Amino acid sequence: MIEHNIVIPDERILILDYGSQYTQLIARKIRELNVYAEIVPYHKPIDEIIAEKPSGVILSGGPSSIYDKDAPEVDKKLFTMGVPVLGICYGLYLVVDAFKGKIEKADSREYGRADIKLNGKSQILKGLKKKETVWMSHGDKVVSVPENFKIVASSENAEISAIENKDERVYGVQFHPEVYHSVNGIKVLENFVFKICRIKPTWTMDSFIESSVQSIRDEVGEGTVLLGLSGGVDSSVTAMLLQKAIGDRLYCVFVDNGVLRKNEAKKVVDRFKKHMNLNLIHVDASKRFLKLLKGVEDPEKKRKIIGKEFVKVFMEEAKKIGKFDFLAQGTLYPDVIESVSTKGPSDTIKSHHNRVPEILKLIKSGKVVEPLKELFKDEVREIGLKMGMAEELIHRHPFPGPGLAIRIIGEVTDKRVSTLQEADDILIEEVRKSGLYSQMWQIFAVFLPVKSVGVMGDQRTYENVIAIRGVSSVDAMTADWAYLPEDFMRRVSNRIINEVKGINRVVYDISSKPPSTIEWE
Ligand code: XMP
Repeated sequence: MIEHNIVIPDERILILDYGSQYTQLIARKIRELNVYAEIVPYHKPIDEIIAEKPSGVILSGGPSSIYDKDAPEVDKKLFTMGVPVLGICYGLYLVVDAFKGKIEKADSREYGRADIKLNGKSQILKGLKKKETVWMSHGDKVVSVPENFKIVASSENAEISAIENKDERVYGVQFHPEVYHSVNGIKVLENFVFKICRIKPTWTMDSFIESSVQSIRDEVGEGTVLLGLSGGVDSSVTAMLLQKAIGDRLYCVFVDNGVLRKNEAKKVVDRFKKHMNLNLIHVDASKRFLKLLKGVEDPEKKRKIIGKEFVKVFMEEAKKIGKFDFLAQGTLYPDVIESVSTKGPSDTIKSHHNRVPEILKLIKSGKVVEPLKELFKDEVREIGLKMGMAEELIHRHPFPGPGLAIRIIGEVTDKRVSTLQEADDILIEEVRKSGLYSQMWQIFAVFLPVKSVGVMGDQRTYENVIAIRGVSSVDAMTADWAYLPEDFMRRVSNRIINEVKGINRVVYDISSKPPSTIEWE
């Protein structure tokens, strides 16, 4: 159970998660309608669900087949709560099963785009065209509709694609209205939220900022707060909210680990200390980190060294400042959802940043303030924009905690860091100039410790290689290498080879994830 420390609107949608990869998307789409939606595991006890008084409940999709031995179930009491229920995909089968209809394995799996035909008047499909393109992903089908339910849409493969019972206010759709490829899917969610549950759209980022600032004040009182600031969107927005709430009782520590981007440390200090007047302690610990990384080639060892040293440096600085009442963190909603679906590698990567026990020991009460823990990344970005953060910063590509150390293959040395910083700087400048930056998930340079022969002027050279990695992705779980325009590639390659000392060759990485990963280490 998430402890809320902001004012959550009374009117909200509860999503019971049955393990679909799209569950978070349902919540995000509903929040885009300015309605608060929260995800809970499907096995949350029904009495707790009733006590939360949601205005509507959505049963998500899931990987199981309804008649599987250990298939997740729904407590039938849910349908007597008096609030509308919408089942999506697996959720539809739960509805059908609960009301004594029948489901069977379909002869062929329906996966991907499909067309549905509407069948007369419908509350849940109101406003959709007679024929709509939707996104399906299922292996079962409804063969008999429960009593008092009406079939409101059908598809080619599965006769029954949407059903409703107006009196009981229970609805089910076989397709996924939340995904982009369901062309008018958002209308289904709008109908459910506004017309059926009658929720008012009060969840806005302006109201969030206001209530969050107030609840930080209530929670922190006259206390002091310590925050590790990396300059990334999450920690920056956390800092801005806290500063607005408690002013200079917020102390931020920014650690330069020596493997940041070119001029990054200076930019962070200028932005937060000079312009925002934040209580910022800038620790230049590059020498310490680089000394520890000397001779280390193994990627996991590099990660561990950087993680451990960060905690050490951070603690030393915090101790110098004094005792704190709270530790602040930029934890987001996807990090705290008790998901029943398996978590991906990127989730695991992130989790180690949060709640480091050694740091918590520094705090008198061991208390943590996490103002963003109810928010998705898009919402955090919107708050950043509203609070005056530059667009360019808000939409920065992800940059890994271990920084350039995992983009230098093999040993990390001063010289290699500065070589890669120069190459990376040229690459990013050109990507931004070309307008490609916002179209990509990530693009970056990698230093390869391989030497190859080249010729510059009349001279033979024997120097290192820079690889460029550019990918498109939606969540970093899978990624495709990005196809880049020829003139752009030519310009980047020319500039890196001409301007970066020690590099005489540039190559482009054409591997997808899986089986490769986005980062090289
Ligand atoms: P991979 O390389 O696993 O990366 O395909 C997936 C996403 O995670 C980022 N990444 C990290 N982020 N600490 C981080 O904060 C790390 O150690 C780390 N390793 C990878 C990577 O940039 C990509 O966006």
